Amino acid sequence: MNLPRAALALSLVLAAACSSSDDPTASPPSTAHAEKDRAAEAKRLLTGPDWYRHAVFYEVYVRSLQDSNGDGIGDLPGLISRLPELQALGVDALWLMPITPTAFADSGYDVSDYTGVNPDYGSLADLDALVSAAHARGMRVMLDLVLNHTSDQHAWFKESSADRTNPKADWYVWSDAPSRPDIGCGTFNAQFGSEAWTLSKARNQYYFHRFYAGQPDLNYRNPEVVKATLDAARFWLDRGVDGFRCDVIGLLVESASGCDMIPETQAYIRQLRALLDQYPDRAMVAESTNYETAVPYFGDGHDMFHMAFNFGFGYFWGFPFAGDAASAVSDKLEASRKDAPPGAQEALVIGSHDVSRAYVAAKKVESRWRRAAFVQLTAAGTPFIYYGEELALRPGKAKIVDSRDYQRAPMPWTKAPGHGFTTGTPWLPFADEAELTNVEVESSEPSSTYSFYKGLLAARRGREAFGAGTMTFVDGGNPAVLVLEREGGGERYLAVVTMDESAPQTARLPVARVSGAPALLFGDAAVAREGEAWSITIPAEGMALFRAE
Ligand code: NOJ
Ligand code: CA
Repeated sequence: MNLPRAALALSLVLAAACSSSDDPTASPPSTAHAEKDRAAEAKRLLTGPDWYRHAVFYEVYVRSLQDSNGDGIGDLPGLISRLPELQALGVDALWLMPITPTAFADSGYDVSDYTGVNPDYGSLADLDALVSAAHARGMRVMLDLVLNHTSDQHAWFKESSADRTNPKADWYVWSDAPSRPDIGCGTFNAQFGSEAWTLSKARNQYYFHRFYAGQPDLNYRNPEVVKATLDAARFWLDRGVDGFRCDVIGLLVESASGCDMIPETQAYIRQLRALLDQYPDRAMVAESTNYETAVPYFGDGHDMFHMAFNFGFGYFWGFPFAGDAASAVSDKLEASRKDAPPGAQEALVIGSHDVSRAYVAAKKVESRWRRAAFVQLTAAGTPFIYYGEELALRPGKAKIVDSRDYQRAPMPWTKAPGHGFTTGTPWLPFADEAELTNVEVESSEPSSTYSFYKGLLAARRGREAFGAGTMTFVDGGNPAVLVLEREGGGERYLAVVTMDESAPQTARLPVARVSGAPALLFGDAAVAREGEAWSITIPAEGMALFRAE
C-alpha cells in the first residue's frame, strides 16, 4: 500500500475509551460514560421511517461491482454475492446507478424502459432477489430514478418522434426551430455538447435535451407524462425497493426565465413524495443541480425530499485539506444548511460517478481524502460512499462512454488477475495500482484506507448523534483545527481534524464546556488538562473522534 506520509504511519486507534497519549501529564481516561449496546442501538436506529438518517449509503455502479457469469460485466447476482463484504465494511444501504434497459449513450442514464432490468445486469427476478437478500440482512436498496429524460430508444420517444399526430406526439418537447421562446436554457453543461435541440427527420422538428442527444427531455407539462412516470416509480415501490435517488430532478420543467426547480417541478416532486408516503419507510434523495444549497429540495421539511446532496461542500471539499483554515470547511457546511427547514437531512459525499476519483481531487495526498471522509462521516447528514472510495481507488485507465469512465473502473476485490471481479475480461480495465489498492490487500493492513473506513464506520455505528444530532462548530482557538460537536440521543461527540500537513496542532476546549476528559473513539490525539482547558493535540494530517461530556 502506498502510504507516502510519515504521519499516516501513526496508528489508527479504535478503542472504547482511552487517550492514545503516552504523556504522563495527560489526564486519565474518563470512565463516566454509560455504554450502550451499540449493535442494538444500530438496529433500532435503522428501523422505522427515520432509518435513512442513520444509514451509511454506498453508491454502486452495478456494471463495475461484481461479475457473476464471466462476461466481464458486473451484475445483480454478483452484487448479491458481495453483500456480506459490504455489510462487514459498515454499509447499511445501497444506491444503485440505473439498472434499467438502456441504449448506453450515458451509462444507463438514458433509460429505454422504466420497468425492466438491463439484461447485462440480470432480470427482474434478480432485482427482487437483491432486495430480499438485502432486507434479510437489514440492508436497504435505493434505485436511481431518471425522470427528466428517456433514451431516444425508449418506445415512448420512438412513437413520439414518428409523426406529429401520434398519441404520444406531445410527450417530449418539440419545436419547429432549434429554440423556443418559453425555454430559457441549453444543455446542462459542456460535457453534453453545446446544442440542446436535435432534428428528428420523421417529424421535421427539433426535440429538446439538456443532456446527450440520445436523452430527449420528457414534457412534464403533459399530465399523461406525469402519470406514466409516477406509475414507473410505483412499479418499483410495489416491488419493495426502499426509495430513489432522483436524477437531476430540478430540471423537469422549463420556462423562459428559469429551468431549475420552477414551481411546476416542485409540484411534481410533491406528487412523487405523496406517492412514497403511501408506502412505509421509503425515502428519496435529490441530486441537486444547485451547487450552493440543497434547501429548495426540502420543501417544508415533509412534502419534498427526505435528503438532498449538497455538492457545495461535497465534490470540492478535498481541496481545503492542504493548509487552509478550518473555516474553509465549516463555512461551506454552515452556508449550505442556512434556512433549511427543521429536520432537513443533507446527503454528504466526497466523490461520485460524475467527478474525478477523490484520489485525484486530493492531489494524491492520501490523508486529504481521509480527512475529507472523516468530516463526511462525522458531520450532520447521511454519508454516501462511492464504491472504491474505501480503497482510495485510483483513476481508471480507459473510457468507453465518456471521460467519466475514469472513475467507474471495476472494483478490485483481490490481488489476483481479474481481481475477484471477473473470471473473464473486465468490460473496462482496472484502475491504476489495482494489485495494491484492493480489498484483499487493504483489509489485512491496519494502516490502509480500507481499515480507516472500516474503523471509523464501526466507531460511529449505533450512535444517534451522528445521524440525527445537532452540529456545532466549536472554537478551539486554532484556525487550522476544525472542531465539530455532535449531540443527540443523550450523548455528545467531538470530531477534531487538522488542515495542517506539516506540524501537530493543538485545540483548547474550556473545561466549562467539556467537563470530563474527552475519550478517544477513533484516530490519534494527545489529550491533556491545562488549567481550565483540555488541550487536544492532533498530529499533522491527523484527526480524532471523541466521546465527550
Ligand atoms: C446526473 C447523473 O449523475 C449523470 O451521470 C448523468 O449523466 C446526468 N444526470 C444525466 O442523466
Ligand atoms: Ca456479468
